[in-house]
Amino acid sequence: MSQRRDFAGFHTRTPNEARVVDYLLGGKDNFAADREAAEQAVAVAPELPMMALESRRFLGRVVRFLAGEGVRQFVDIGCGLPTQNNAHEVAQAAEPQARVVYVDFDPVVVTHARAILADDVRTSVVQADMRDPGLILGHPDLVRLIDLREPVAILLVSALQAIPEDEVALDIVTRLREAICPGSWMVISHPVSDSRPDVTEQLATMFQNEEIVKGTRRRANVRAQAEIEPYFDGLDLAPPGIVRISAWRPDGGTPAVDPETVWTVAGVGRKP
Ligand SMILES: C[S@@+](CC[C@H](N)C(=O)[O-])C[C@H]1O[C@@H](n2cnc3c(N)ncnc32)[C@H](O)[C@@H]1O
Repeated sequence: MSQRRDFAGFHTRTPNEARVVDYLLGGKDNFAADREAAEQAVAVAPELPMMALESRRFLGRVVRFLAGEGVRQFVDIGCGLPTQNNAHEVAQAAEPQARVVYVDFDPVVVTHARAILADDVRTSVVQADMRDPGLILGHPDLVRLIDLREPVAILLVSALQAIPEDEVALDIVTRLREAICPGSWMVISHPVSDSRPDVTEQLATMFQNEEIVKGTRRRANVRAQAEIEPYFDGLDLAPPGIVRISAWRPDGGTPAVDPETVWTVAGVGRKP
């Protein structure tokens, strides 16, 4: 695949990561350029729509699990466009008092999310770059809902692949872990190259990631599972540990799809 794609975030003629995911999920918040890019990606990896759906199912299971563990505060970083079973819907169905802060640097995501959540006093949307965890955690729209002296769950669901530099991705995770109090949780999922290295390499080349802040363009990163595991250092992993998302505590004990066909791994760790 020689064609290269640039994610710009706010141009309708340029494919946008969040809108491509929306299209893969059957949503309507996307434009022709997003649909075309998504179809090109699906031509390379026909499993992508199924994987996008599995990622949302994983998010739902994990938020329900954490609500059952007593977590009442959630920060969903790299949240993407609102779709079905968003974190606040799942959390508030389990516990009506749950508070959820969504974070994304994409103005399209932020505008949509703010419109949908305008009447929900227990949610807010912060527009910020995940490269600056201090700014996120100190943002007034987060601070009014989230008390970092109490346990919180930080969600990084299919988000860190957007950070090309390995040391920056690890630094984001480390700084977030250091900022949360004992008893807090971190949820991290990440597509991995282990089972389909050729496909993941092609997709990373197709889907460029524009770093808006620096104005430079870099490709998304493809990582192996062994590179994801250090993200959980200093955390106690909930069983079953770091596994394919479809195998993480599946509803009814049986994965909805063969976990091996879903090349995204996840772990859920608690800060001791
Ligand atoms: C693949 S989508 C995942 C969306 C959602 N978490 C899910 O699993 O369905 C990645 C999201 O991360 C956002 N993103 C990418 N780089 C980011 C950054 N540096 N800071 C904040 N958000 C970012 C994108 O705008 C996009 O919405």
